Amino acid sequence: MYILLMGPPGAGKGTQAAKLVDKFSIPHISTGDMFRAAVKEGTHLGRQAKEFMDAGQLVPDSVTIGIVKERLAKPDCKTGFILDGFPRTLEQAAALDVTLDQLGIKLDRVVNITAPDDELVKRITGRRICKGCSATYHVVLNAPLVAGKCDKCGAELFQRGDDQAETVTKRLEVYQVQTEPLISYYRDKGVYAEINGLQPIDKVLDDVVTNLRGNRT
Ligand code: AP5
Ligand code: MG
Ligand code: ZN
Repeated sequence: MYILLMGPPGAGKGTQAAKLVDKFSIPHISTGDMFRAAVKEGTHLGRQAKEFMDAGQLVPDSVTIGIVKERLAKPDCKTGFILDGFPRTLEQAAALDVTLDQLGIKLDRVVNITAPDDELVKRITGRRICKGCSATYHVVLNAPLVAGKCDKCGAELFQRGDDQAETVTKRLEVYQVQTEPLISYYRDKGVYAEINGLQPIDKVLDDVVTNLRGNRT
């Protein structure tokens, strides 16, 4: 199953992707996670991406398209993938079409998880991530059993550098201007589905899975 997860910052793409990985046993490919890993490792890619991420802006297409192309060519993508947060511009979408054509892959669904801006801001500013296994929590909405510690591996939780209120506003604005045009792009291709993200996490998952299964022939 080849799934593309869209949605504004904080809508729940990463949260749902983690659950879909368990259900369908296909890799989760998040460009945000790839950039964060590169920043942490201090690679050339990380240095290129950091200033854009810190400012809440998109990393240039010339950088982003290349890393996704390379990742999709790996053998674990042969039976499916969940692409999270890519594409985010029409140029990225066009490049993805070319890459998928070359690989002989057809997208099954583009799932857009939606939620209102005030909820997105609340979710992002309260988000905490595990230093050990990257599991995602929220201090109120999806709290760990012990404050500040991961339920799964016990490691400490931290806040993402771009999850401060000022940067969040910029990220939401960038999403509206640069990424929302992709909705009509994928609607025209007949693969687009919108899921109400303003529901409990497991209900969102149910809706996504029902939609994906409905699409299978
Ligand atoms: P990226 O890491 O992709 O960030 P994003 O798109 O802004 O999305 P988030 O990861 O913030 O949100 P999410 O939808 O995954 O929400 P989550 O599940 O964590 O990108 C970061 C940066 O990298 C970009 O700004 C850009 O600079 C760069 N970048 C990445 N891709 C790029 C590209 N293609 N091109 C150029 N640049 C790129 O959930 C959020 C919180 O809400 C959590 O605390 C969670 O516990 C909680 N939550 C989730 N679902 C629910 C629910 N249903 N109810 C209540 N709480 C919930
Ligand atoms: Mg995410
Ligand atoms: Zn953990």
